[in-house]
Amino acid sequence: MPERWPGSFVVDLDGAMIGQILLRRATGHRRPAAVGKADLGYLFLPPAWGSGYAAEACAAALDWFDGVLPGEPVVLTTQTANVGSMRLAAKLGFTEVERFQAWDAEQWLGLRSPVTPSV
Ligand SMILES: CC(C)(COP(=O)(O)OP(=O)(O)OC[C@H]1O[C@@H](n2cnc3c(N)ncnc32)[C@H](O)[C@@H]1OP(=O)(O)O)[C@@H](O)C(=O)NCCC(=O)NCCS
Repeated sequence: MPERWPGSFVVDLDGAMIGQILLRRATGHRRPAAVGKADLGYLFLPPAWGSGYAAEACAAALDWFDGVLPGEPVVLTTQTANVGSMRLAAKLGFTEVERFQAWDAEQWLGLRSPVTPSV
């Protein structure tokens, strides 16, 4: 990002922006299990869906994260009705912490446990 805001990524495909990934500190999260943890968010333009770009880019962002903050967990919140997002979360290694109601829909809170360094 031009301002060099760590954890904020623009995803570029052949010179065009196709998506955005944010890793932010969830200071004000409504679920206690997520408060204070790094929180992953992603948003891709519909023409870029269905090609694996989101999975590839999120995996790269999480690799970056593991490098700068080793051993830290990451949380992710998405609607359970968002099938593509739920599938992506599973692919990235997030597992369910809990489901809760918010914003007039069932939400899914997932956690990606820290990668244990191999000895
Ligand atoms: C959530 C979102 C990022 C998922 O995007 P996506 O493109 O489906 O995700 P992936 O990158 O994992 O791509 C998976 C699809 O690409 C397909 N694909 C095609 N070629 C592929 C390849 N070479 N490698 C991997 N996957 C490939 C997969 O088969 C899969 O399709 P399927 O879901 O029909 O099985 C996207 O729908 C989005 O931006 N939605 C709006 C924002 C949003 O909902 N954000 C979450 C709210 S918190």
